[in-house]
Amino acid sequence: MTEVRREASGRSVAAVIPAAGSGARMGGRTPKQFRRLAPAPILLLTAGHFARHPAIGSIVVVAPATHVRRAERLLRPLARRVPVAVVPGGRERQDSVRLGLAAVPAGADVVLVHDAVRPFVTTALITAVIEAARRDGAAICALPVKETVKRVVDEYVETTVDRSALWAVQTPQAFRADLLREAHDKAHRDGFVGTDEAMLVERLGHRVRVVRGLEENIKITTPADLRKARARA
Ligand code: C5P
Repeated sequence: MTEVRREASGRSVAAVIPAAGSGARMGGRTPKQFRRLAPAPILLLTAGHFARHPAIGSIVVVAPATHVRRAERLLRPLARRVPVAVVPGGRERQDSVRLGLAAVPAGADVVLVHDAVRPFVTTALITAVIEAARRDGAAICALPVKETVKRVVDEYVETTVDRSALWAVQTPQAFRADLLREAHDKAHRDGFVGTDEAMLVERLGHRVRVVRGLEENIKITTPADLRKARARA
C-alpha cells in the first residue's frame, strides 16, 4: 500500500466528525458521543484515531450547540498533534456536516467524514479511503450484507430483496474537497436530505469507489450497541 503522508505544503487531509446528535435512541441526558467507553469518552477515542493519522492535517468536530465548550475541553489533548476546531451542529446530520465543512481549512484537498459514534475505526481503514478518494474523487467503506433482506409493510413481508449486490455502508467516507462542497451546496439548494455524504455526490453523477469496511467498525446507536462496545473496548 502506498503511504499517505502529510504533504510538505501542509497536511492536506481534513477530517469532519459529526458529533451533534442528541442520542435519542440511546436515552439518557448525555448525548451518546460523550458517554464513556473505557478508557475515555467515545468522541475522544474516535477523534484520536484521526489526530494520530499521519495524513490528517486538521480536524473539525461538530458538537451539539449546548456541548461545544465541553467538546473543546475534552479534545484539548489532541490539539498538541493537529488543529482541532469545534463548531455547533444543525438539525440533521447532513446540516452538521455542512457546517463542519464550512470550517475546514481552504488548503485541504481531501475531506474525510466520520461519525463520532464509530470509535473502532483503524488507521489502515482511514488510509484506504484517503487513497481511494485521491484516485477516484469519492470513496466509502462498506461490507456485503449478510442477512436476508425483506421489504416489510405494516408488519407483513412485501418482498425479499436480492442481497447479492447489497452492501451496508460505514464511515469514514472521503472526498476531494471541491466535490464534497459542490455536493453539499447542491443538496442544500435542492432541499435534498441523504443518509450519507456519498448519496449527495452520487446525485452529481460522480462515481463513488467502495473499499472494504470492518466488522468491528460499528456505529454505537442503542444501549445494546454501547454494551457491545464496552465489552470490546
Ligand atoms: O443519528 P446517527 O446515528 O445517524 O448519527 C451519526 C453521527 O452523526 C453521530 O456521530 C451523531 O452525533 C451525528 N449527528 C450530527 N448532527 C445531527 C445528527 C447526528 O452531527 N443533527
